[in-house]
Amino acid sequence: MRPMERTFLMIKPDGVQRGLIGRIVGRLEDKGFKLVAGKFLQISDEQAKRHYAEHEGKDFFENLVGFITSGPVFAMVWEGDDIIALSRQVIGKTNVKDALPGTIRGDFSAHTPHNLIHGSDSPESAQREISNFFEEKELVEYNKTLSPWL
Ligand SMILES: Nc1ncnc2c1ncn2[C@@H]1O[C@H](COP(=O)(O)OP(=O)(O)OP(=O)(O)O)[C@@H](O)[C@H]1O
Ligand SMILES: [Mg+2]
Repeated sequence: MRPMERTFLMIKPDGVQRGLIGRIVGRLEDKGFKLVAGKFLQISDEQAKRHYAEHEGKDFFENLVGFITSGPVFAMVWEGDDIIALSRQVIGKTNVKDALPGTIRGDFSAHTPHNLIHGSDSPESAQREISNFFEEKELVEYNKTLSPWL
């Protein structure tokens, strides 16, 4: 097992508009991940372009930025062993045809761009994405008393 990791997860505007914040956060809590920070906000065009910098130049880039800025999002930082890989399993595959039942996308999403939640794909992305949305002082340090059981 790799050491404790942090990841950036963000419920996209479709998840917010469909009233799925509670159920999506519930799945992350059910899994046993630890919430470190959360923020409900409307993101700016610049912040969205920074967030999706790796996709700049691709044909879907403008749509992606348009979608993620189309309404408020719920941005979060979560912590756990191997959380980057594990949270992407909980989220499910990008293409809805590959997103298995039991995953967030598999259970709630029927169209690929409207896939409800973003999750960082590497420690480097996680660090960059967290700092695009949160200041260091907003990341809360605390003990989760249940952790020995998870
Ligand atoms: N071929 C595509 N056509 C349209 N939209 C796409 C395509 N590939 C990816 N996207 C959109 O761009 C987002 C970012 O793509 P990426 O490859 O990073 O997938 P992901 O890591 O599963 O999703 P995310 O980064 O949002 O968590 C996807 O969530 C999806 O909404
Ligand atoms: Mg991605």
